[in-house]
Amino acid sequence: MEKVIDEKQQGNSLVTTPKPENSRKLFIESYGCQMNFSDSEIVASILAKEGFNTTQNLEDADLVLVNTCSIREKAEQTVRKRLEKYNAVKRINPKMKVGVLGCMAERLKSKFLEEEKIVDLVVGPDAYKDLPNLISEVEEGRNAVNVILSKEETYGDISPVRLQSNGVTAFVSITRGCDNMCTFCVVPFTRGRERSRNPQSILEEVNDLAAKGFKEITLLGQNVDSYLWYGGGLKKDFEKATEMQKATAVNFANLLDMVAKAQPKMRIRFSTSNPQDMTLDVIEAMAKHQNICKYIHLPVQSGSDRILKKMNRLHTRQEYFELIDNIKKIIPDCAISQDMIAGFPTETEEDHQDTLSLMEYVKYDFGFMFAYSERPGTMAGRKFEDDVLEADKKRRLQEIIQLQQKHSLYRTEQQVGKTQEILIEKESKKSDQHWSGRNSQNTMVVFPKENYKIGDFVMVKITDCTSATLIGEAIGYSDNN
Ligand code: SAH
Ligand code: F3S
Repeated sequence: MEKVIDEKQQGNSLVTTPKPENSRKLFIESYGCQMNFSDSEIVASILAKEGFNTTQNLEDADLVLVNTCSIREKAEQTVRKRLEKYNAVKRINPKMKVGVLGCMAERLKSKFLEEEKIVDLVVGPDAYKDLPNLISEVEEGRNAVNVILSKEETYGDISPVRLQSNGVTAFVSITRGCDNMCTFCVVPFTRGRERSRNPQSILEEVNDLAAKGFKEITLLGQNVDSYLWYGGGLKKDFEKATEMQKATAVNFANLLDMVAKAQPKMRIRFSTSNPQDMTLDVIEAMAKHQNICKYIHLPVQSGSDRILKKMNRLHTRQEYFELIDNIKKIIPDCAISQDMIAGFPTETEEDHQDTLSLMEYVKYDFGFMFAYSERPGTMAGRKFEDDVLEADKKRRLQEIIQLQQKHSLYRTEQQVGKTQEILIEKESKKSDQHWSGRNSQNTMVVFPKENYKIGDFVMVKITDCTSATLIGEAIGYSDNN
């Protein structure tokens, strides 16, 4: 299971409103995390100025771009399969150019051109502003590669076009890169060092979204709690900042406060939080503003202190429990979700039992669970043998998933009988007579359409549930409309 905006969106081609003066056709699709979907919107925005409109029809495209994910081996295999499909189309339309963007581009660099002969263009996550030049190179018959990682780039000056938008929810990226160096993770290598975006440009984007009628934004970063603006530059260079820069710095709690105040009618979400960087002031900011959703995605990866240490997660099991206790004390109705990795090198049955008992303590609302996948170049890839038997990894993963399903049901059952505010996002997948939206806690809620419409905030009485979905009936508009 990949962590995405919508499972169904993986690999879907993304479309924008066409500009009549544009004649070239861009087919762009995204795999992997929300950040990739958000980056594709930046890319489409840059290319709209270069005469490209988006198309959903691969056969029509002049340029095909695939925004790729390297997080697990399977994610890379999915992209390789897509390249085979593009290759078949390229045989019919030899003028079509193919570019690889994102984490796989960064990881494999020019090796891509050797390994996948059909690829004309390789562009890493910090080089999208160079796309117009790179495309000219390709048009002149040369291959083009730019995988330079940046200390500064946040794309803060680019107003992204919204791809495949429901007009209600949008992503706003606030940090890029990650400095945490979890030993299993390829992200610090593919997305570079951590830097934060100017809060002013974040506010402008949020205000612009509100003016366009959007009702909910998700602030995105690999590690949002680590957000720190002190005039630009890398997070790791903050120590070298001037006294003035230090005194006027904006941290994540400050940013949440600013955004929540600027648009009190908008729902604010954020993802992802790292337990070692989440501070009490963030939880307090959430409690203070009713428009900040009561939901924290708080990956833990393992419940064993020994494994947490080997993963370079800089907190213990006990510290994690203390954080959970604080969250529940300050925001009793806060939902919490996890990411978990089964079968990290040297994981024993006892370590695995520690993971299950940690889950028992927290009883997460939902989770994203993975079998460990060794990534070349990471510390774990270089130093630790991938020694947990495949069968054990799979079984442990299954046990984690089953326990999570039990806890998810426990959490959704607690909601039955309550009346909650839901923001309508789309038609239910299962029935054209029902709307689907989320409550503040991020659980999907489905209810009969009546006369409500997409983008309405509606009070819904919850009457039934599954482990993943709440079912209810609207009883009227909420005060927020
Ligand atoms: N901070 C990031 C984490 C990105 S990776 C964020 O914004 O979500 C998402 C999840 O993928 C991680 O939390 C971890 O559970 C999983 N993951 C990362 N590397 C992995 C690997 N090598 N094998 C298996 N799962 C991995
Ligand atoms: Fe990866 Fe750890 Fe950063 S999971 S994205 S290195 S917080």
